[in-house]
Amino acid sequence: MPESSSCSSCKPSSIGKKVVMALSGLILAGFVLGHMSGNLLMFKGEGAINAYAQWLHEHTGLLWFARITLIISVLAHIWTGILLTLENRASRAGGPATEATRQATIGSRTMPYSGLVILAFIVFHLLHFTFRAVALNGVVYGDNVYAMVVAGFSSKAVALFYMISLLLLCLHLSHGVSSVFQTLGLRNERWRGRLDVVALVYGWVIALGFISIPLAVLTGCLK
Ligand code: HEM
Repeated sequence: MPESSSCSSCKPSSIGKKVVMALSGLILAGFVLGHMSGNLLMFKGEGAINAYAQWLHEHTGLLWFARITLIISVLAHIWTGILLTLENRASRAGGPATEATRQATIGSRTMPYSGLVILAFIVFHLLHFTFRAVALNGVVYGDNVYAMVVAGFSSKAVALFYMISLLLLCLHLSHGVSSVFQTLGLRNERWRGRLDVVALVYGWVIALGFISIPLAVLTGCLK
C-alpha cells in the first residue's frame, strides 16, 4: 500500500491537529507542575498553603487569565484527541498491524482511556475543592484550604480515587510529553531514548508529588 494512504497521521490536516494537541498538552503539563508545586506547601504548614491560596484569590486578573487559558486548552486537547483517535482507528481498520502499532506502549494505546479517567477526576476535583459541593460533609472551610484538604483526604475511598487517578495521570503525561517531542521533530534516533526518560521522569515527579498529599493525610503525617 502506498505510504500516503496508510499513514493517516502524516496528512497535513493531522499534523495541524497534532500541533494543537501538543501545544494544549504543553500548557496543561505546565499547569500541573505549577499546581503540584503550590500544593506541596501543605508540608510547610497551614499558614504557608493558606497564604498562597489567598494570594491567588486576591489576584483575580491572573486567576481568570489562567482559568480561561486552561478551559480553552482542555477543550482543544479533548476535541483534537477525539479526531486523531478516530482517524487512527479508521486508518487501521481492516489493514494489517503496522510496525508502529505493534511497538505501541501501554501508555500510547491507553491514551483515550486514561484521558477519560483524568477528565472524570477533574470534574470530581472541581466539585470537591473548588465548588466544595461533594465529600466534605457540608462543613464550611472558608479560607482554610489546609483544613479542607486534610478533611477531604480523611476518607480512604476519596484518597484512593485521587491516588489511582494520579497514577493514570503519570501514564498519560509520560506518553504525552514524549509525543510532544515527536511532534516537535526532536525524537530522532539519537535522542529518542533520552527524551523518553525525560518524559517518564516528568510523569512520575508530577504523580508522586501530588500523591504525597493524600498519602500523608492517610498515614497521619498531615493532620
Ligand atoms: C493531591 C492532589 C491535588 C490537590 C491536593 C489539589 C488541591 C486543590 C485545591 C485546594 C484547589 C482549590 C484552590 C482554591 O480554591 O483555593 C484546587 C483547584 C484546582 N485543581 Fe487541584 N489538587 C490536586 C490535583 C489536581 C490535578 C491532578 C489537577 C489536574 C489534572 C488539578 C486541577 C485543578 C484545577 C483546574 C483547579 C481549579 C483552579 C481554579 O480555577 O480555581 N488538581 N486543587
